[in-house]
Amino acid sequence: MHERWYKQAAIYSLDVETFQDSNGDGIGDFPGLTSRLDYLARLGVTCLWLNPIHPSPNLDDGYDVADFYNVDPRLGTLGDFNEFVHQACNRGLRVMIDLVVNHTSDQHPWFQEARSDANSPYRDWYVWSNEEPCDRYQGMVFPGHQHETWTWDDVAGAWYHHRFYDFQPDLNMGNPDARAEVRKIMAFWLQLGVSGFRMDAAPFIIELTRPSEPEVRKEFSYLNEFRELMSWRQGDAVILAEANAEKEELVKYFGDGNRLPMLFNFLLNQRTFLALARGEAGPIVSALEAAPAIADLCQWATFLRNHDEVDLGRLSEKERADVFAQFGPDENMQLYGRGIRRRLAPMLANDRRRIELAYSLQFTLPGTPVLRYGEEIGMGDDLRLKERNAIRTPMQWTAGRNGGFSTAAAKALHRPVITGGDYGFETLNVEAQRRDDSSLLHWFERMLHTLRECSEFGVGKCTPLDTGDRAVLAITYEAPGGMMLALHNLGPRARSIDLGEQPGQGGDPFEVFADRSYDAVGPELKAIDVAGHGYRWIRLRDTPGR
Ligand code: NOJ
Ligand code: CA
Repeated sequence: MHERWYKQAAIYSLDVETFQDSNGDGIGDFPGLTSRLDYLARLGVTCLWLNPIHPSPNLDDGYDVADFYNVDPRLGTLGDFNEFVHQACNRGLRVMIDLVVNHTSDQHPWFQEARSDANSPYRDWYVWSNEEPCDRYQGMVFPGHQHETWTWDDVAGAWYHHRFYDFQPDLNMGNPDARAEVRKIMAFWLQLGVSGFRMDAAPFIIELTRPSEPEVRKEFSYLNEFRELMSWRQGDAVILAEANAEKEELVKYFGDGNRLPMLFNFLLNQRTFLALARGEAGPIVSALEAAPAIADLCQWATFLRNHDEVDLGRLSEKERADVFAQFGPDENMQLYGRGIRRRLAPMLANDRRRIELAYSLQFTLPGTPVLRYGEEIGMGDDLRLKERNAIRTPMQWTAGRNGGFSTAAAKALHRPVITGGDYGFETLNVEAQRRDDSSLLHWFERMLHTLRECSEFGVGKCTPLDTGDRAVLAITYEAPGGMMLALHNLGPRARSIDLGEQPGQGGDPFEVFADRSYDAVGPELKAIDVAGHGYRWIRLRDTPGR
């Protein structure tokens, strides 16, 4: 096992509130999640990332925190959290939690005090303006659903800044006491056993906003403080940051290993959807070639679906239109003018071959894969729910009441379970797939277990090869322990490809995973067959002991 656990992890992201309810109140909770740890361990993931777990008015699904030092009583107690971490650890599963410190809820006592007393030490923890700011609308994250980024507060008699909704006032990271508090929050949860954090909204955390300056300043050096704190408190802890930023800026988030160790690869995510939409490998190859070199300690995280919309904001208009046309043609499937609020299975018309192709691709692209709960059984979405809630419905465990999520009356559920049709819990659930050897769940288990024997994908040097075919993506991964080849045919028609002269030739290729059984590949790597939407993982070299 590589010493840097996060480079060989498979991260599973879930929201406690929609995973498993244990006490029949319609809300998922920690005892419920704890009871599902064996399922997660068997699935083969190695780390759980929990969406916000703190007390919250819940106006943005917990991303509006009212107390950073507790768990929301709806989810359980700190004791339940502690028991959960212990039980996860017993099964070799690490735990990460969301660190949402760009802003707080407007109900947080800090904001309440700041707004009601101009002399309070908390006043400067937020970003205020006595005059109407020069641009009240600039930089909105939720266009169409958010009205402004500066809101007048009658209590304070001033304007406050908020990148997100108006109930999420931004903290002022220029204030040293606020910064010290953020360090204390991290230290608190590290002490309780988490292995790291998914950092929410990293680009805005480092912004120093002044009402009189339309151009915001970014203080990247602030990120060093996070790494420094973790290296003293828990050296192997990591931050996985949400930084959907300009390509040129990304390396500044990583630093030379002294800032944030992991970033979600948003660019690759968008280019992957473009590649899937067009049936061409090109968009992925260009994204890989354009990716900046990153320090040895650092790592990308790959994903297809998360708890938000698929953000296509960094594609050109034409490219975005192609993805919309294929995967989100109706207006109701689109969100914020830039994204798609659907799960992957419905985006791919529930075509099993394409679902496998997409996930095989994601899990072999460079970096650490992150999987959203429910994707392993091909869950659907509920477009009647507002904004991103469409993709946040309860996990479907059984064909029983509420899909086994909760014993509450259906109308008492925090969010409705998907019922009826191809994606309803009556037919689509863990129990049914457990009984069926050919199910998507079994496929995911096999894929994840195989991945754990192929650490090259997480740590190896990635080289896209010329396949001579627009539809076929071929990448080799070279690491001290061996060399892997991943082949993916994004098009519908079968192909046969020659890989030509390259360092992987001449060995004894051995297939470890594929969409079907293929003829063995010869050492010269010629005439390799890949079915339409097929994929093959081939070990080109094995160096045991390295
Ligand atoms: C990014 C999170 O992923 C999203 O769900 C949330 O609404 C915003 N940050 C605000 O915290
Ligand atoms: Ca509950």
